[in-house]
Amino acid sequence: MGNAAPAVVERAADQLARYTHTCFLATPYEPYIEVAETLNRLTPGTHEKRTALFNTGSEAVENAVKYARAATKRPAVVVFDHAFHGRSLLTMTMTAKNQPYKHSFGPFAPEVYRAPMAYPYRWPSGPENCAAEAFSQFAQLVDAQIGADAVACVVVEPIQGEGGFIVPADGFLRAVADFCRDRGILLVADEVQAGIARTGTWFASEHDGLVPDLVVTAKGLAGGMPLAAVTGRAEIMDAAHPGGIGGTYSGNPVACAAALGVFDEIEKHQLLDRAQAIGDILVSELRGIAATTDVLGDIRGRGAMIAAELVVPGTRTPNRDAVAAVSRHCLNNGVLTLTAGTFGNVLRFLPPLSISDDLLIEALAVVRDAFAAL
Ligand SMILES: Cc1ncc(COP(=O)(O)O)c(C=O)c1O
Repeated sequence: MGNAAPAVVERAADQLARYTHTCFLATPYEPYIEVAETLNRLTPGTHEKRTALFNTGSEAVENAVKYARAATKRPAVVVFDHAFHGRSLLTMTMTAKNQPYKHSFGPFAPEVYRAPMAYPYRWPSGPENCAAEAFSQFAQLVDAQIGADAVACVVVEPIQGEGGFIVPADGFLRAVADFCRDRGILLVADEVQAGIARTGTWFASEHDGLVPDLVVTAKGLAGGMPLAAVTGRAEIMDAAHPGGIGGTYSGNPVACAAALGVFDEIEKHQLLDRAQAIGDILVSELRGIAATTDVLGDIRGRGAMIAAELVVPGTRTPNRDAVAAVSRHCLNNGVLTLTAGTFGNVLRFLPPLSISDDLLIEALAVVRDAFAAL
């Protein structure tokens, strides 16, 4: 939403002057209900839904697992290579990358299993085989190794964020969703990074036609205020006993008011379309850069969530040094970039949806110079 979006500031300031805290479990309040009803309406699927609010993405993912376990009475959680789900004990365990997220912080939580992600650019037998082979390995893990009747949920980022904006091979997520439905396993979409208009739809799951059982949101949800949510099928959410889920500050009223401001801004400025337009500019500029250098191995993403994977020229060997050099050049010239990827060789671009074309193009000119200077 960018810095200090007017509707966010206005709504949050107004709420700040009214009341800052009651603890929703003790004394419910309207902004929480309004956020919950909005997420119930916007998330994929027309089934009856419930939303519970939390403070951080990690906390919400962790609670999604608690709901899934309570509803299915099963222990296991399946996650994917390159996943990032947070920094709490359970979500750190669910996260794939050792450095910096897990190193020295174990022992980890039990009953977390990891399947390969359908990562087209790095699939050993080529992108054309990626969806089918990754699905077959996933299915084998669940059926043959864990046992499907022990699996509560599969948790997946519909576009992996920290992992390097990996867009799963077409068909993979739908196959996983069908498989889960057949076996009574719940599908949890971690939309913390990709959700809330970032990819040109309200939720990244929509690109794959997914209707997840539980959807987790945070980050963009409240324009920088600490707010996260789990939105899911009513019967799953209702399976948790009263008082079992919650927290002193969960769904803080000021953060809820900010979220209502975010929803206003997205609708008023048609930011779903804007995310797509930003993505088009990013992809076209990055393709222009790719024509001038052979370190740019892959450009991928959706909407305003676009990444460039850098490799050693003529190979697919991750080129971390090039990413560091590009980032440094950008920083020295007034543009902040963010890196990502299991191998640290991905530059990710996720500008605020309020950015102007001119500012975006100015920033990308600096990125272009950075590549030229390599
Ligand atoms: C996909 C995903 N899930 C969960 C999290 C954790 O969110 P938080 O940092 O708010 O705990 C993140 C944060 O980067 C994320 O990208």
